[in-house]
Amino acid sequence: AQTPVKVTVTGAAGQIGYALLFRIASGQLLGADVPVTLSLLEIPQAVKAAEGTAMELDDCAFPLLRGIEITDDPNVAFDGANVALLVGAMPRKAGMERGDLLEANGGIFGPQGKAINDHAADDIRVLVVGNPANTNALIAQQHAPDVPAERFTAMTRLDHNRALSQLAAKLQVPVTEIKKMTIWGNHSATQYPDLFHTEVGGKIAAELVDEAWLRDTFIPTVAKRGAAIIEARGASSAASAANAAIDHVYDWVNGTEWTSAAIPSDGSYGVPEGLISSFPVVSRNGKWEIVQGLEIDAFSRERIDASVRELEEERDAVRQLGLI
Ligand code: NAI
Repeated sequence: AQTPVKVTVTGAAGQIGYALLFRIASGQLLGADVPVTLSLLEIPQAVKAAEGTAMELDDCAFPLLRGIEITDDPNVAFDGANVALLVGAMPRKAGMERGDLLEANGGIFGPQGKAINDHAADDIRVLVVGNPANTNALIAQQHAPDVPAERFTAMTRLDHNRALSQLAAKLQVPVTEIKKMTIWGNHSATQYPDLFHTEVGGKIAAELVDEAWLRDTFIPTVAKRGAAIIEARGASSAASAANAAIDHVYDWVNGTEWTSAAIPSDGSYGVPEGLISSFPVVSRNGKWEIVQGLEIDAFSRERIDASVRELEEERDAVRQLGLI
């Protein structure tokens, strides 16, 4: 029998966790023929709630689910882990300065990175969902010097999927007609959804829409969709975030044509090496590769640079705080 893949989920008792765990256990994360064990990491106060979710997972009798472990100790949670979904994070509270937010998250992602370094399986792949996702991923990576740097990624797939759906609605086409969508930069309001390489029925998307819509409606709608969901739902996006995490890991492991992911920069497109920034990517042989050779016009350049500058500022702030 095939050895189960160990998938560790942090923040397992949270709302994304609740939307995510059942899909992992049903085979959607890795494939319908891959058995999994789940390791749920929570803070002590939320372990009981995670146990409740585990009871429900039991009650689904998922054929692929070979075990569930629940712990508040990262060293246990990441022991032998093949996939780590870092969802639990410290949310920004009213009046919180960026430095406070980064510091609180440094206290979470530093130790988790070290636990991954010391205990995870050799093929560990990490996706950071918890915000500020790109910089949290950088913090975890910097505490895991023995793990290849490219195994630390952050999620911009939800932004990518939002961009696909906004464009599909505008052009009245199914999302499957849209190829080569790209999100650049930070998973934040500065992100840049780029339609200048996106193809719809063989035509460039930016040429199918007017510039005012692209600039004043499309870009801000995608970038601020998270806030719009909170406004409408009274809670932040959870099922769609879980869905995007599933898409990211599935494609990373199984390969994909053009999508978006935040991965460590190799210096491509002027993004400083080492920053975990969103790029157009493909996945081949279990590795993300940045799509090369795209022409970037002045409109895109300005927006990519602004988002990358924000990532540099976050990196400099966590450096100054001694978090990396
Ligand atoms: P939530 O508040 O419902 O759940 C977070 C869970 O993390 C809680 O159960 C909490 O106890 C746990 N947690 C906190 N610190 C922890 C630690 N040190 N170790 C383990 N668990 C810990 O939040 P929700 O809605 O599930 O969102 C989680 C994160 O995902 C947030 O940071 C949110 O901003 C982010 N997010 C990211 C998106 C993206 O596109 N990258 C999209 C949507 C949300």
